[in-house]
Amino acid sequence: MSEERASFGSKLGIIMATAGSAVGLGNIWRFPYMTGKNGGAAFILIYIVCVIVLGIPCMISEFIIGRHGAANTARAYTRLSNGTIWKLVGYLEVLTGFLITGYYAVISGWCLNYVYASVMGELNGDPAFVKNYFVEFSQDPIRPVFWTIAIFAITHFIIIHGVRNGIEKASKLMMPTLFVLLLVIVVAAWMLPGASKGIDFLLKPDFSKVNSDVFLGALGQCFYSLSIGMGCLCTYASYFSRHTNITTSAIQIGFVDLMVALLAGLMIFPAAFSVGINPDSGPSLIFITLPNVFNQAFSGAPLLGWAVSLMFYALLFLAALTSLISLHEVNTAFFYEELHISRKAGAWIVTVFCCIIGALCSISIGHKSGLSLFGLDLLDLFDFVTGQLMLPVVGFFMCLFVGWYIPKQIVIDELTNWGTLKFSFYKLFIFVMRFVCPLCILAIMLHQFGVI
Ligand code: PFF
Repeated sequence: MSEERASFGSKLGIIMATAGSAVGLGNIWRFPYMTGKNGGAAFILIYIVCVIVLGIPCMISEFIIGRHGAANTARAYTRLSNGTIWKLVGYLEVLTGFLITGYYAVISGWCLNYVYASVMGELNGDPAFVKNYFVEFSQDPIRPVFWTIAIFAITHFIIIHGVRNGIEKASKLMMPTLFVLLLVIVVAAWMLPGASKGIDFLLKPDFSKVNSDVFLGALGQCFYSLSIGMGCLCTYASYFSRHTNITTSAIQIGFVDLMVALLAGLMIFPAAFSVGINPDSGPSLIFITLPNVFNQAFSGAPLLGWAVSLMFYALLFLAALTSLISLHEVNTAFFYEELHISRKAGAWIVTVFCCIIGALCSISIGHKSGLSLFGLDLLDLFDFVTGQLMLPVVGFFMCLFVGWYIPKQIVIDELTNWGTLKFSFYKLFIFVMRFVCPLCILAIMLHQFGVI
C-alpha cells in the first residue's frame, strides 16, 4: 500500500464517516414507510435478517476490494482484476455514484430549503397551504437549483479539506449531532397524546402481509441503506489502515444504520398517529405530510412545534449531507487519481458536473420545462436507472468478483489483517458471496421486470 495515500485518523473516524455514508434519506423516510406498508415488525425482522445475511457480507466485500486496491474504486478493481474485464465493475460503480450524486443533491437541497423555511416559520398553515408550498417550491425553476448549488458548496468545502481534516472531522461532528437530534425528536413524539398507537402499529408483526414483494423490498432497502454498489464503501475502505478490523467495522456500521432507521420509524409513526394521519410515501411524506403532522401535533405549543420541525429538517439535512459527501468522494478520488490532477481540481470537476446534472433534474420537475426522457422527469429517470438498474447489476457482479474471482489468500489476509486477527467464518463468507448474495440480487432484478 502506498504510504502517501490519505487515511482516516482513528477507528471512531472510520465508523462515523462510513456510517455517515450509510445513514441518509433512505433511513429516515424510506425505511419507516416500508415498515408501515409491509407488516410492521414482520418487515423489521426480515430486514434485520437481510442486513446480517447479505448486507454485512457485501459491505465486507467492498471493504476488502477498497483496502486491498488502495485506490479509487475503478483502480482498486483494476488492480485486483489484473486488468481483465472485471475492472468494468469498478468503473460502473463510479459511474453509478456519479449519476446518483447529482439527483441525491437535489433532494438534499430540498431538505436545506426546509431547514430555512422552518427557521422562518414558512411552513405554518393548513394542509392545503403546506401542500401548495411544496408543489410551488419543487416546480420553481430557480429556488431548488439555488439550494442544490448551496449543498454542493458545503460538500465541496468539506471534500477539499481532505480525508482526515474534511470528511473525518465533519463526520465526527455531524453524526453525534444527528443522533442527539433524533433522540430528542423521538422523545417529543412519544410524549404526544395517542403516540402509543403509532408505536404499536410499527412494532406489531403482521405476518399476513409478508409475501415475496416484502422480502425483495427488504433486500433492496438493505442495499440502498448500506450504500452498497456505488463505490462509497470501497473508496472509504481505501483510507482504512492495516489495523482496521474490516469485519467488526462492517457490523458496527450495519448496527448504527439499523438503529437510525428504527428510531426514525419510532419518531414518524407516533407523531403521525397522534394526529390521525397515515404516513405517506416518498417525498410527500417528508415534505407535505410531516409539516402537517408537526403543525397539528404541536398546535397548543407553537414554539415547541417550531423547534421540532427545525430539528427534524436539520436532522434530514445532516443525514443527506454525510451521504452526499461520500458520493462526491467516490468521484473526486477517481478524477484526481486517474487524471493525475490535484484533489482540489478533482473536486471541482465533480462539483461542476454534478451541479449541472442536479440543476437539470431539478428544472425537469417543473412541468413547464418539458425536460423529460422516456416519459419520466430527469429526477425519476436517474433514480430508476441508478437504483433499479445499475445498483443491482453492479452488486451482482461485485459478489461474483469476490466470491469466485479474487484469490482466496487476499480475502483471508484482509479478513484477518494478515494473520493477526481470528476470522472463523471464512468458508461461510465465501459461500454467501458465491451463491446466496448473487441469487438474491438476481431475484430482485427478475422480480423488478416481472419475470418472477
Ligand atoms: N445510504 C444512503 C441512504 O440510505 O440514504 C444512500 C446512499 C448514499 C446510497 C451513498 C449509496 C451511496 F453510495
